Amino acid sequence: SIVEFIHTATLLHDDVIDQGEMRRGRKAARALWGNHPSILVGDYLYVSAATHSLSLNNNEVNYALLGACRRMIEGEMIQFSCRSNLNIKDEEYLRIIQNKTASLISAACCLGAIIANGTERDKGLLGRFGMDLGTAFQVADDTLDYTAENDLFGKTIGNDLQEGKITLPLLHLLGACSPAEKDQIKRIITGGEPRSGELGTVRELMNRYGSVAYSMEVAHRYVNHAKSLLDGFDDSPHKRALQAIADYVVTRDH
Ligand code: IPE
Ligand code: MG
Ligand code: MG
Repeated sequence: SIVEFIHTATLLHDDVIDQGEMRRGRKAARALWGNHPSILVGDYLYVSAATHSLSLNNNEVNYALLGACRRMIEGEMIQFSCRSNLNIKDEEYLRIIQNKTASLISAACCLGAIIANGTERDKGLLGRFGMDLGTAFQVADDTLDYTAENDLFGKTIGNDLQEGKITLPLLHLLGACSPAEKDQIKRIITGGEPRSGELGTVRELMNRYGSVAYSMEVAHRYVNHAKSLLDGFDDSPHKRALQAIADYVVTRDH
């Protein structure tokens, strides 16, 4: 529940930062009630989560959760400073998504081992499993931002392009396309609100240069590595659930 509170707080704040209109197929809270209530309720959920965490009287839990919150905010800050920067490297992109997304999933996985008095080895394996799972999740999410069907995705397609967010499919495209096409993409990113035709142009280039396939291949690589970390545990319904979640993040269409 604590992780869910934190996750919901990040989404309320994220939709303010990204000017998101849709969340999970419905109007985003900020679109319904405005930015101020979204920020306040997000703050309220963060502090409620911290209060519940304190009530467990387990500092390892507190450190895991607060560490993840700090990393998420760091990720958002780095992402903000990199917006519309077409010169960032894949490593910088990975650092952003590992901070902003994978850190909470990693903490959530590790917390199971902490609460169950697991060994340091178990905590390490589950923490790394969550880090790889979260990385795969965000790479797939960033790919779906270009490829998904609007009705299924539950968010507005092409929001990343509109926000100048440089994600893996775009980085791949920039590295593969011609100089003239690169100039065209640069104009779209820096020219303010991209029109729907411009999103179509970028989507078409991504398909032509294999950027979508490349990104999903990277996501699959992280999923496979995540699953290999579970080899360190005996078979159980819980392990099979984690394996199923890992497969789901790269097979989902929304
Ligand atoms: C959300 O990142 C990450 C956090 C909430 C910290 P995005 O901005 O990429 O996610 P969506 O696309 O709005 O879901
Ligand atoms: Mg965001
Ligand atoms: Mg967002």
